[in-house]
Amino acid sequence: QGTWHAAATLGELNEGEPYGVEIAGHHIALYRVGNEYYATSNICTHEEALLSDGVLDGCEIECPLHMGRFDINTGEALTSPVEIDIQTYPVRVAGDWLEVCLP
Ligand code: FES
Repeated sequence: QGTWHAAATLGELNEGEPYGVEIAGHHIALYRVGNEYYATSNICTHEEALLSDGVLDGCEIECPLHMGRFDINTGEALTSPVEIDIQTYPVRVAGDWLEVCLP
């Protein structure tokens, strides 16, 4: 279930630089950690900050507004003030592109 969408070229995804895209009305943040890629909702569940403006620390994204943290692999809300997990999305590499599966 879900539909695969081309989200970004691999060249646009640099280690430690979260990358925000809008696809079919979804705000998505893409991340590269080593040779692994991850995708989450780009909207913090606390207020409306964009996580792609935050700081990536290993597999944790820190929100730029109040420094709440999420695990980008599981979406789990890790540190105050965030309490609600963020959505995560499956990703796959197709040629030079990262694709994201959206519901
Ligand atoms: Fe993200 Fe407050 S808006 S921690």
